Amino acid sequence: MKSKSIFILLFLFLSIIIFNSFIQDNPYFKITKEEVELKIPKGFPKPIYDFNKNKLTPEGFVLGRKLFYDPILSKDSSTSCSSCHQRIAAFAHIDHPLSHGINGMIGKRNVMSLQNLIWRDAFMWDGGVNNLEVQPINPITNPIEMDEILSNVVVKLKHNKEYVEAFYSAFHDNTINSERILKSLAQFTGLMISSDSRLDRYKEGKETFTVTELNGLKLFQTKCANCHAGALLTDNSYRNNGLKADTALRDKGRAIITGKDEDNNKFKVPTLRNIEMTYPYMHDGRFRNLQQVINHYADPKNFDKGYDLSLNKIGVLTEKEKGELIAFLKTLTDKVFLYDRRFADPNIR
Ligand code: HEC
Ligand code: HEC
Repeated sequence: MKSKSIFILLFLFLSIIIFNSFIQDNPYFKITKEEVELKIPKGFPKPIYDFNKNKLTPEGFVLGRKLFYDPILSKDSSTSCSSCHQRIAAFAHIDHPLSHGINGMIGKRNVMSLQNLIWRDAFMWDGGVNNLEVQPINPITNPIEMDEILSNVVVKLKHNKEYVEAFYSAFHDNTINSERILKSLAQFTGLMISSDSRLDRYKEGKETFTVTELNGLKLFQTKCANCHAGALLTDNSYRNNGLKADTALRDKGRAIITGKDEDNNKFKVPTLRNIEMTYPYMHDGRFRNLQQVINHYADPKNFDKGYDLSLNKIGVLTEKEKGELIAFLKTLTDKVFLYDRRFADPNIR
């Protein structure tokens, strides 16, 4: 009897230890050196952002992830990067036409997805920011997004024991400053790479397409791929894709940055990777689903003045062609990226 209860006690004791070690050291969130190595996917160009100047380390990445998911970056600790950029939507925001920030304030634009950022030459719908490291200053300081100032974020982080430790492991000394905040955020967002969609696998001969998807691919190549070009599905240019100018927001797009009339209503050509997941669509989120997007492109009569003349080659699309294009767009969903646990919220186990 006695030895039996000792066994039970021992068993309980061991289970508690094992259970605790699982909580403390969740394998999903343990990042190894290999996992933060930059591997350039086949067929992708040379990145524009240079990680040689911001050396990737597991500790830097983990710190960037902690910051990305932490509302401490906002004035009233209500809003994190991840409030607007949701993992399951390739870091866009499902269902919100316009972004929602601090105090429920409604922004002026649709949240962009975050993927393959190290190949982007400029950021935002109008290309107003040209450096991945500088980009977060915008949402952090924007009064309708996080409404905070960087120097104040630094003060808050210095008073937080977890961050003092996290910065020490990433940078090996006690300094916490804006540069280090921005560099670690860039380590995290810069590694958000989508390169394993069904289309990628099809190109590598690892996947077959249905007839409908193949027809969609052909249509896409002749009608859409001059703008949504190459492996990144964008040529990084600014174009007017014929949307009716909106009279409520009066967003002039690229012209806000260049001040040139000819850039009125031009917006950055967005990537179409994971497009099935990033609804609603366009800079103002005006289209709820892909059907509405395709209906827009399907008839030149829909195009507002000043539209990019290369849209003329789309012509009038039949119902069958519309279906084929949508089937093709869905092959751009990259489940490997969407479910990659490295990018998951470290606070949810
Ligand atoms: C209130 C919602 C909101 C928050 C919070 C927010 N963003 Fe964004 N983000 C947006 C919107 C909206 C855009 C598009 C902005 C535009 O075009 O003016 C965007 C654009 C971006 C882009 C550019 C993507 C591209 O392809 O050009 C990056 C990178 C980005 N955000 C990173 C971050 C990071 C990092 C944080 C946290 C520090 C953050 N965002 C916080 C709404 C938000
Ligand atoms: C002349 C260049 C051009 C061509 C050709 C073009 N697009 Fe676009 N596309 C754009 C631009 C620019 C935007 C963003 C416009 C905006 O938000 O104001 C866009 C947006 C989109 C979006 C929404 C993306 C998002 O994240 O909200 C989809 C989907 C799309 N295009 C699909 C297509 C398809 C399918 C075709 C071919 C039938 C096509 N495009 C042809 C330039 C082009």
